Amino acid sequence: MEPFNRKVSKLRDPGVSLDAAVQEAISQFLGIPSEQILTQPNVDKYFDPERPNAANDDLREVFAVMRDLNLLGVENDNLCVSETGGISFAKALHSIVEDLAATVEDSLHYVELGPEPVKTGAILQDLTEADIEVRSYTAIDINPASEPVMRDCVSRFLPPERIRQITADYFSLDRLDIADNRAPALVTMLGFQEGNEMPGTMMNFFRRIMRPGDLLLAEIQVLPKANWLPIFEFYGSDLMRRFSKIGLRRALGELESEYGVVLVPVPMEIPVRGFVAVTTERIVSEDKMNDKIFVTNYCIKYADEEFRMLRELDGAFRVVAQRLTGDRSVSFQLAERR
Ligand SMILES: C[S@@+](CC[C@H](N)C(=O)[O-])C[C@H]1O[C@@H](n2cnc3c(N)ncnc32)[C@H](O)[C@@H]1O
Repeated sequence: MEPFNRKVSKLRDPGVSLDAAVQEAISQFLGIPSEQILTQPNVDKYFDPERPNAANDDLREVFAVMRDLNLLGVENDNLCVSETGGISFAKALHSIVEDLAATVEDSLHYVELGPEPVKTGAILQDLTEADIEVRSYTAIDINPASEPVMRDCVSRFLPPERIRQITADYFSLDRLDIADNRAPALVTMLGFQEGNEMPGTMMNFFRRIMRPGDLLLAEIQVLPKANWLPIFEFYGSDLMRRFSKIGLRRALGELESEYGVVLVPVPMEIPVRGFVAVTTERIVSEDKMNDKIFVTNYCIKYADEEFRMLRELDGAFRVVAQRLTGDRSVSFQLAERR
């Protein structure tokens, strides 16, 4: 049986898209004419519209970059600890899974939006140790390269008939029909993904697909107060530089370019500060007068208290727990659909 109802057309919100708003903000705040700024919808980084079910080396590498970033976090007990202490990224992840295990009765159906094997393996391991039965696992990813890797990861914990993988745009989901009367659905959106779309788009999406009693586990990169270094360090990493170069090559071909990172304010439809971290490739023109800026990634950075407010704003969710790393740069949140 299909685990969800899918409509043929996309169910995206018709409002302002984040890529258009980012283009406008870069033009306004950095003084670059908007015709010199090139953007693309977030989803275009992860699939080839001509061959949506075919993986290729670039898409496999894009997927591997995400996995390698997570490996750095999950295997390092000090990542995201501040000079004065606090919990690491790995500890924050394990703590939120403890919160999850304490919230569900004894079982759940795991639905992962935009999967990646390192965190998923850690979560499944923690749930197993906490005696929580995972009755099924469903991954939904636009990137066809994820399927074999995720199947390999999850089959360490579940038999094949309880694992489903769907190569699709998760915005095409109408509603999840996966929970049963014994177990809710746990929906995860990890890896700062929520910041890739306007807040209203994500709020409407989660409200639409989830049913009362279902749980949402989300992770964002937070805008720390008075210190943006963790954000620049993350985007300055070799892996994020690599991700950016692949994005440029996939969109425009092999070009000489310079990597850059900026944080710009973008008007949002809800009361948040609305800073967006944007990575760019500057494509230098011969006369240096007509350089183009290709935007390879954009991600809204909410403050930790904004993350909580955002989830509870329309009354559809109640935040159950939130865990912030010591350097205040990553927040995991567990919320219940009312
Ligand atoms: C930023 S990565 C995060 C990966 C992973 N969750 C993590 O924790 O690192 C976003 C992932 O979501 C997938 N994705 C992005 N937009 C999507 C969409 N609209 N529908 C389905 N998958 C999408 C991409 O293929 C990618 O693997």
